Amino acid sequence: MKILLTGGAGYVGSIVAQELEKAGHRLWIVDNFSTSTRAVQEVLSGAAITWREGELGDAAFLEDVIGRTAFDACVHLAGSARVDESMARPALYYRNNVSAGLVLLETLVRHGVGSFVFSSTAAVYGAPRTVPIEEDHPKEPTNCYGETKLAFERMLHWHHLAGGPGYVCLRYFNAAGAASDASLGERHDPETHLIPNLLSSAATGAEVPVFGDDYPTADGTCVRDYVHVEDLARAHRLALELLAKERRALALNLGSGDGASVREVMAAVERVTKATLRPRIHPRRAGDPPVLVASRRRAEEVLGWVPQASSLDHIIESAWRWQKQRSPGKGA
Ligand code: UFG
Repeated sequence: MKILLTGGAGYVGSIVAQELEKAGHRLWIVDNFSTSTRAVQEVLSGAAITWREGELGDAAFLEDVIGRTAFDACVHLAGSARVDESMARPALYYRNNVSAGLVLLETLVRHGVGSFVFSSTAAVYGAPRTVPIEEDHPKEPTNCYGETKLAFERMLHWHHLAGGPGYVCLRYFNAAGAASDASLGERHDPETHLIPNLLSSAATGAEVPVFGDDYPTADGTCVRDYVHVEDLARAHRLALELLAKERRALALNLGSGDGASVREVMAAVERVTKATLRPRIHPRRAGDPPVLVASRRRAEEVLGWVPQASSLDHIIESAWRWQKQRSPGKGA
């Protein structure tokens, strides 16, 4: 297939690119490198990949990219994805996740591109009323990031009804881990995510902030559903293969189906790294729900997707290998 991949220089996007390239697809990657590094281009440099640097909100740029090639599908991961930032700068999130997304969608519709896979999030649900979370759980985002992802899901729905592309919205739970060959992995600036922060502390001996130990969970810390980024990447490929056969309109949770508390993740990091972490309890982080765990039943039924690499120890081992071999200026 000829696939337009937006955000292919990012953490999840680069590993999706690796998966699709390995499966024999041709990729055109659009990225503006605003939160990612050009070093990824050295890893994703095969003949099957064409890089196009530019802004999704730039209609002339997109017209040029999409008008030149008869794309079979678009996989859309570009966007802003920090919950805290979304609360401070809502306009940025509406601009990048909604307005720019609409320019992309309109251009794809105009050129008759038939399939669309969208990188969505568990943040569309808000604080869960029931766990594990099914896809038809009420959508009540508690942050602007989740709200803008949900808005794009709704745009896809209405465009689909009007004859636009078949689509699959993939609602990621907590993406974690690195490529098994340690060529690509997570690197954010600033880094706010639990696992990379714990691994940095394991390497440097710095204290680890634990945001709240008074939640109504078994050990008082928040429970999340960590899913290996290579399992996520495989789901994108399976969704594309499904859409190539059938014009569907779907949303699927991508999670391991298992919850791990902050303390359990810390224990796993200590097992893998042999370091002793130094936790310090901080107040709760605004907007953190106590428990987020996916029901992955629908993804298994529809795509045959079963996580293979999402045990906590495997996730942490892969992230640790990536962190140890990474040198300055290298990464995703
Ligand atoms: N945490 C700490 N210390 C840290 C970092 C995190 O205790 O240094 C805690 C958080 O409070 C939370 C858990 O670890 O309870 C996981 O936090 P992350 O920041 O790693 O991930 P989130 O669950 O906050 O966010 C993830 C994605 C978002 C997505 C969200 C869906 O990164 O993009 O899940 O709810 F929106």
